[in-house]
Amino acid sequence: MKVILAKSAGFCFGVDRAVKKALSAAREEDGRVYTYGELIHNKMVVDELESLGVTVIEDIDSVSSGTVIIRSHGVGKDVIGKLREKGIKIIDATCPKVKSVQNKVEKYHNMGYNIVIVGDMYHPEVAGVNGWCENAATVINSRSDAVGYVSEKPVCIVSQTTVIKSLFDEVCAEIVKKYPDTLIFNTICNATTTRQEEAVELAKVCDAMIVIGGLHSSNTKKLAQLCSIHTDRVYHIESSDDINKQELCEFDTVGITAGASTPSQAISEVFRIMDNTMNFEELMGEVKSLRTGDIVTGEVIAVNEAEVFVNIGYKSDGVIKKAEFMKDLYESLTSVVAIGDTVEAMITEMNDGTGNVALSKLKVDEMAAINVVGEKFEAKELVKGKITKIVKGGVIVDLGFATAFMPGNQYGLKYIEDLNTLLGKEVEGRIIEFDREKNRVIFSRKVVLVEERNKRRAERDAKRNAAFSALELDSIITAPVKNITDFGLFLDLNGVDGFIHVSDISWRRISNPKKAFKVGDEVTAKVIELDNAKYRVKLSIKNVTKEPWVEFTENNKVGDIINVTIKNIAKFGAFAEIIPMVEGLIHVSNMAWEKVTNPENVVKTGDVVAVKIIEIDDEARRVGLSIKDTMPQPRRRIETEKAYYKEDSKVTLGDLFKDYINE
Ligand code: F3S
Repeated sequence: MKVILAKSAGFCFGVDRAVKKALSAAREEDGRVYTYGELIHNKMVVDELESLGVTVIEDIDSVSSGTVIIRSHGVGKDVIGKLREKGIKIIDATCPKVKSVQNKVEKYHNMGYNIVIVGDMYHPEVAGVNGWCENAATVINSRSDAVGYVSEKPVCIVSQTTVIKSLFDEVCAEIVKKYPDTLIFNTICNATTTRQEEAVELAKVCDAMIVIGGLHSSNTKKLAQLCSIHTDRVYHIESSDDINKQELCEFDTVGITAGASTPSQAISEVFRIMDNTMNFEELMGEVKSLRTGDIVTGEVIAVNEAEVFVNIGYKSDGVIKKAEFMKDLYESLTSVVAIGDTVEAMITEMNDGTGNVALSKLKVDEMAAINVVGEKFEAKELVKGKITKIVKGGVIVDLGFATAFMPGNQYGLKYIEDLNTLLGKEVEGRIIEFDREKNRVIFSRKVVLVEERNKRRAERDAKRNAAFSALELDSIITAPVKNITDFGLFLDLNGVDGFIHVSDISWRRISNPKKAFKVGDEVTAKVIELDNAKYRVKLSIKNVTKEPWVEFTENNKVGDIINVTIKNIAKFGAFAEIIPMVEGLIHVSNMAWEKVTNPENVVKTGDVVAVKIIEIDDEARRVGLSIKDTMPQPRRRIETEKAYYKEDSKVTLGDLFKDYINE
């Protein structure tokens, strides 16, 4: 015969927690300890607690002192109130999942909703939940009840945690038909759903099913009911005493499941009778080896504002206190984690005093953060953060994944007088020092600023080098004027400054460059000096053109007749411009054939006159000009000269008067 044990058989998280609280109370509480109603629907457990001095009461009026344990089903608000009034100590072992249903019911009842609880109205959990809405809820346990349901207010539906899902869905569907805006909370416990689904799957493949649990246990009865849909051989037993092995031996395959209130000991006994070839503890996973410091992963099975309960696949559940789950204790725990979430945490204690395994998510987060810090440090990664605190010598930067210290001198390139001015600033930088052992993380913003500055300089230098190497001595360039001073112009040569001294601007004398140029003017100039070491470039505008004297001498010679402009007149003559920057002198004696006593009688400033070049002194750069030589010598003067005659002269009268004779 093959025996298959359902994985989720036995105590659920809520029951396990309640039993542990009761056992702990039996050991530690002074005075009498009571449970309000049987802690679980299991005689074996109830008897054991009884033997430890934990008595079951059905009526709170029957106690006036001591400690009362509220079982996992929970109780109504009025019961809690009465116990408090009496000054009785309460150990609330209400399953956190049930507590969550109670909270919902109270909230929506106060908001004006009509509450519907899908479940058994006589079940203590349902009665307790109803007690959080002043017992005003309508309890529906069948589709037909739902059909006749009427409400004049908005409707809010919750479920008993152990109700069958299909029933819940049917009831909801009926009510939604009439009231489409109905608020629905499926509060069926997934422990129950999982247990039921596993039992059904097992029943499908087994010839018979053994369902272990109290005969009055609601969830055990439901298990048996579900199994009977798939096999007509379902044995609902309370303990191994109820087994008829001979009858069961007829079957090839037998499945075993157990209700949420069934201790593992009861399951173990049944299993061993049915199959003594396998190790029950191994099958149940109870020998899973865990110790303090281990990292475990589990599913959140309950959460309230103080703790998160996690199924870590161990015989005990894990519990994470709020302070071990999150840093911001002002934030709501239930807003950041929900049932069904997967959580990774470190075991800090194998037993937190209530039988649970104490876990810390923050420790895992810290380890992860340290690893991230290490990776980012190694990779020299750029990270962003916010300055959250000013401390001695620096500031604390929140990097999101970790916090780091930034010394005051690592903020920027300049000294910061008052670090308080940095509070709240967003910063970008690198982790420049990391010591895993000492948990030391040093952050620097300055290092990035220095990098950026160096990069800018390198780019500027590269650009300057490229621009400089493109320049050649004596080459002609055109560039915009970047700056003008009294002593010259600066041109922008693509990153290199080119300088033109005032004396190199023109062949003329320039007294004020600012009057001749403005910033942005395009200027054509010749490169006259390159200093590779100092990246200095000297330019000349005047050298783009020929020196006027050279141009003059190349184009003119003695004897040429040219037009000139009178520029200046003196007693001894007049200065005339031949070409710009080249002037010649018309001496008074060269102004006319007649005697000239005042040059102004011959020329005026600005006159353009024809002159003959009579002298070019290249060394002294002087030009002699003559108006007189552009015209023939007057006749009268020749006659005077011709009248000159001496007795001993060999010149004949015929020679003297030949012009007249020839006329
Ligand atoms: Fe709680 Fe679910 Fe058990 S509601 S008591 S964990 S069945």
